[in-house]
Amino acid sequence: MAYRFLSSRIVPSSNRLSRRFIFIFTISLCFMYLCYSILFCSGTIMPSQRWEDHRCVHLKNMGSKKLLQKSHYCTISAKARVLPDETRAVALLNLTGNQSKHSAFQKTQDVVDHNQSNNSNSPKYGNKKLPNALIVGVKKGGTRAVLEFIRIHPDVRALGTEPHFFDRNYDKGLEWYRGLMPRTLDSQITMEKTPSYFVTREAPRRISNMSRETKLIVVVRNPVTRVISDYTQTLSKKPDIPSFEELAFKNRSQGIVDTSWNAIRIGMYILHLENWLQYFRLSQIHFVSGERLITDPAGELGRVQDFLGLKRIITDKHFYFNRTKGFPCLKKPESSSQPRCLGKSKGRTHVQIDREVIEQLREFYRPFNVKFYEMVGHDFRWD
Ligand code: A3P
Repeated sequence: MAYRFLSSRIVPSSNRLSRRFIFIFTISLCFMYLCYSILFCSGTIMPSQRWEDHRCVHLKNMGSKKLLQKSHYCTISAKARVLPDETRAVALLNLTGNQSKHSAFQKTQDVVDHNQSNNSNSPKYGNKKLPNALIVGVKKGGTRAVLEFIRIHPDVRALGTEPHFFDRNYDKGLEWYRGLMPRTLDSQITMEKTPSYFVTREAPRRISNMSRETKLIVVVRNPVTRVISDYTQTLSKKPDIPSFEELAFKNRSQGIVDTSWNAIRIGMYILHLENWLQYFRLSQIHFVSGERLITDPAGELGRVQDFLGLKRIITDKHFYFNRTKGFPCLKKPESSSQPRCLGKSKGRTHVQIDREVIEQLREFYRPFNVKFYEMVGHDFRWD
């Protein structure tokens, strides 16, 4: 109707050409209005997306999103922000977040940049460097806790995931390895952790070829508890595996332990250490007590900071004991609302093992432990 009315008023009634022109003009106006609306909408969506990203990065300040609880909900936007030179590394390793704060109240953008850099996702400054320090073992010793705790130090940047370079990926070359690392300033230490290095025969030689000055951290734990922890983890992934006793003994009644089972072998620390000492001085290796890491995390982290030549910044003030988790957790930083405990796979309830079996294993490990204490000059009191 409106169209007929308009065309009869403005345009001479018989002029079909003019009618057609008005019709096209009206359609064009509608189309332009539609385009404008779409552009306007995306303009209002994009800032909120940016806010989400910012919020995500802010949350990652709390720690590794994969391994620390309650910080899972920013994965997608973080991945969407990957810079080109990082894409390959992120794809390969699904890098997790890191955190570190120069000061509690830097400008928002500083916090974002700092974390992006620590994330290895989209760093803004510094260079990718080969690591100066490695947490090389041992599996189930408490390696994740040490990494997550030490990386809150402002002078430490760490890779969140395990690159397995010196055992599984060595043929990819040092440049590949360097490419995985977070950017660091000259004053900062680059770290990664891969617990299987400790029991990999070639690892010490390969690491000393990278740098003879590499600092090594080994988190050791009572080998009997460690093997049960290891078995508990495997069982949680593969419920059909044989019983602990079947795997641990060649002959249970005679107490002959099966040293070909890797979970048993890992705990024979002295054997592996001898291999490392062919390439590194003992003073280059720092042993963290997995037990004390739970009862006195600040004390253990104090010694780790000394070993790394860092100012003691991580102290008692950073930890609290979480009764629900049954482990120490990091207190919430000023900038976030969540405290940080390690994920569910850390601190599992162990499978129940016969007392007699435990005693047999204790007997088995004793001579190895004694030699280990003598070598490192410290009695870990596992016996
Ligand atoms: P369990 O799950 O057997 O208790 P890793 O990180 O090397 O795999 O070691 C895992 C072990 O770290 C856990 O073994 C747990 O005992 C120990 N651990 C030490 N400090 C911890 C902490 N603050 N939170 C959770 N687990 C911690």
